[in-house]
Amino acid sequence: MSDETVTLTVNRTGESHEFPVLHGTEGPGTIDISKLYGKTGLFTYDQGFVSTASCNSSITYIDGDEGILRYRGYPIEQLAAKCAYTEVAYLLMYGDLPNSEQHDKFVTDMHRYAMINESLTNFFKGFRYDSHPMAMMVGVMGSLSAFYHDSLDINNPEHREFSAQRMIAKVPTIAAAAYKRNNGEPFVYPRNEYEYCGNFLRMMFSTPCCDFKLDPVAERALNVLFILHADHEQNASTSTVRLAASSGANPFTCISAGIASLWGPAHGGANEAVLDMLHEIGDVKNIPAYIERAKDKDDPFRLMGFGHRVYKNYDPRAKIIREVADEVLERYVGEDTPLFDLARELERIALEDDYFVERKLYPNVDFYSGIIYRALGFPKNMFTPLFAIARTSGWVSHWMEMMDDPSNRIGRPRQLYDGEAERSHVAMQYRK
Ligand code: ACO
Repeated sequence: MSDETVTLTVNRTGESHEFPVLHGTEGPGTIDISKLYGKTGLFTYDQGFVSTASCNSSITYIDGDEGILRYRGYPIEQLAAKCAYTEVAYLLMYGDLPNSEQHDKFVTDMHRYAMINESLTNFFKGFRYDSHPMAMMVGVMGSLSAFYHDSLDINNPEHREFSAQRMIAKVPTIAAAAYKRNNGEPFVYPRNEYEYCGNFLRMMFSTPCCDFKLDPVAERALNVLFILHADHEQNASTSTVRLAASSGANPFTCISAGIASLWGPAHGGANEAVLDMLHEIGDVKNIPAYIERAKDKDDPFRLMGFGHRVYKNYDPRAKIIREVADEVLERYVGEDTPLFDLARELERIALEDDYFVERKLYPNVDFYSGIIYRALGFPKNMFTPLFAIARTSGWVSHWMEMMDDPSNRIGRPRQLYDGEAERSHVAMQYRK
């Protein structure tokens, strides 16, 4: 803790007040304004939390100007190159990479909890056959709280760990079941001889009528993509999980709220939107017209997969994903190669355009991920569910961190009211 302070002078009253500046391990100093209202009667206003730290956390560090992302201190590049997703999930949850004994136990736990209660299959059948898998995931994840009454005491650390592990283990099973519901195929149960990503691929793509052969290129690509998507500090969905959890709500409903927030096209839904956009552009010759549309403030069109609230440099995840895309598309040469070429050309043209340069708009994690997912055989509406599977380890880690913090208080932002001032009731016959 430093002795640094900032002084705020309220011109109207001439009063000055000092506020402490907090410093974390890295990153900008943070003015502690928790006593601001008490001292001055003033709120702060920061729509979209552009300059506001909503909590302290020791899970993930981002330096958006330098393009740095680290989980628990480890650079994302090293984790993506060297780890299994389950090691990274363990790292996020517990703070350190597991040794082999700890990892074996974690993987065994993941296998143990991977099945979902059989009555949930009826739940899936209750959805229309063409429901978006994200809609099913929101519902089914939340409904797990109706099944696990044995571990819902959020004040019990063992219950918390149990629930967190259950969610990481079950979320691929839930996503795969949603896909099978869309396709009218029988659900495929998880099998313990597969690792996390392989198991998910098998639950997605095996059917009773043909043997499933796991492709190591696909498994490796998914492993990297899951690691890259596992956490990203206080993004919209993680902040949603934290806000929901601050009231003491049960963990399954909090993660369900996170899934709902992720679905939006400004967040996790962007991977699906990128593919739509590339199809709409269709050809390299049409790129300039779409770049002009993206720059036009009267046109709602935006270059999907471009820009980021925090990264004002190349998103480090996008760099890694581009390399994975090369490998996957080389293996699965097919109709997606032109799409990848189109994306690369779009990136090249945008990065030379003053509009994007001045605003520091670079490709984000989702610019290339959809192309890889599609090459691997995932339909477009499964792209955001894939993100949700990967992000579950991050969400539950933030939830555990928050529940472990005795200073946790209910999240309750204030507002700048700009509605009507007080007025009197008018009887209906006299209203206009
Ligand atoms: N295309 C065109 N212009 C853009 C884009 C874009 N993709 N992104 C930002 N801009 C422009 C804005 O119009 C604004 O211009 P102005 O200063 O002239 O008004 C400026 O760049 C700053 O943009 P903001 O919207 O203020 O940035 P914000 O931090 O609020 O939004 C966001 C970030 C939502 C990611 C935005 O860049 C965007 O909509 N991108 C496309 C959607 C997308 O790819 N989302 C995925 C994000 S990554 C993730 O969630 C995993």
